[in-house]
Amino acid sequence: MSRIALKLNGNKLALDALAKLNTNRQHHKLFSTNSQSGRLAGKVALITGAASGIGKAAAIRFIENGAKVLLADVQDHLGKSIAKDLGPNATYIHSNVTNEQEISSAVDHAVAQYGRLDVMYNNVGIIGEFQPTILDLELEGFDRTMKVNVHSTVAGIKHASRVMIPRQAGSIICTASTTAILGGMANHDYAVSKAAVIGLVKSTAAELNQHGIRVNCISPHALPTPLAVNFFKKRLGIDDEKMVVEMIHNMWEFNGARCEAADVAEAAVFLASDDAKYISGHNLVVDAGFTCFKRLNFSP
Ligand SMILES: NC(=O)c1ccc[n+]([C@@H]2O[C@H](COP(=O)([O-])OP(=O)(O)OC[C@H]3O[C@@H](n4cnc5c(N)ncnc54)[C@H](O)[C@@H]3O)[C@@H](O)[C@H]2O)c1
Repeated sequence: MSRIALKLNGNKLALDALAKLNTNRQHHKLFSTNSQSGRLAGKVALITGAASGIGKAAAIRFIENGAKVLLADVQDHLGKSIAKDLGPNATYIHSNVTNEQEISSAVDHAVAQYGRLDVMYNNVGIIGEFQPTILDLELEGFDRTMKVNVHSTVAGIKHASRVMIPRQAGSIICTASTTAILGGMANHDYAVSKAAVIGLVKSTAAELNQHGIRVNCISPHALPTPLAVNFFKKRLGIDDEKMVVEMIHNMWEFNGARCEAADVAEAAVFLASDDAKYISGHNLVVDAGFTCFKRLNFSP
């Protein structure tokens, strides 16, 4: 090839690269850019289980970061009052996540009210009844836990995808748990349900990638929300709430920090934001390393 032909060829490659860059830039208009008003400025999010614990903390952080949030729960009084406190960018909707129709309606409500859905946070979970051994496991209870923790997450991903696929963009976040990673930390039904959530996230992320939809989950370690506090109060027969809260905090030590709902909410803000635009199929573990290592004992 002559020098001139090489140069022309080089110019063509450069022009092609520029055209591709411009197409990408146009495509990225679908994502809101980070503005000074917050990492989720202009985004619309639906959070399930938002009347308490992690979901409530996430609703607060999402709003602080500029999102419009539809809070879904079955605790209507609590949910409405939280939404009222959060101001005009928050709305509450009753949605029992064990009912596919109610999840579907909540998704449609977000689109009707705010014009689209950017973030679906499938956060509801129950812990189930304490079963000391596998022999105590009642399969009806197992099914109940799977229905609330897994069935609802499948339905949440399905209906969020229904409205996100046409826009070719979206972030779906689900709540798993460290109990899905290490055995022996929870009831079998709870641990299995959370392991299923991690599997579901990988499976659906594989399909939804082609539509520009990211699917991730967060695995928090134990933290003293009503779910955990009530479970341990009952399981240990301790009435003193402060003592149980302290006990949960002491389940793992990290100098200078304790696991709080706000830490999980921060992880959710990140996954919901465009800062995480190339992260999908991931399980973001919020446990200060609890599931990463064991310390060697060097004593004789
Ligand atoms: N707290 C922990 O130690 C911990 C650790 C790891 C994972 N998680 C997970 O975090 C998620 C949130 O739990 P949390 O600790 O904030 O608990 P929480 O009990 O404080 O909040 C759960 C919320 O879900 C709502 N809810 C329950 N069933 C529902 C249903 N069928 N439909 C709609 N809403 C329903 C409840 O009303 C409540 O407001 C759950 O998936 C839980 O499994 C919690």
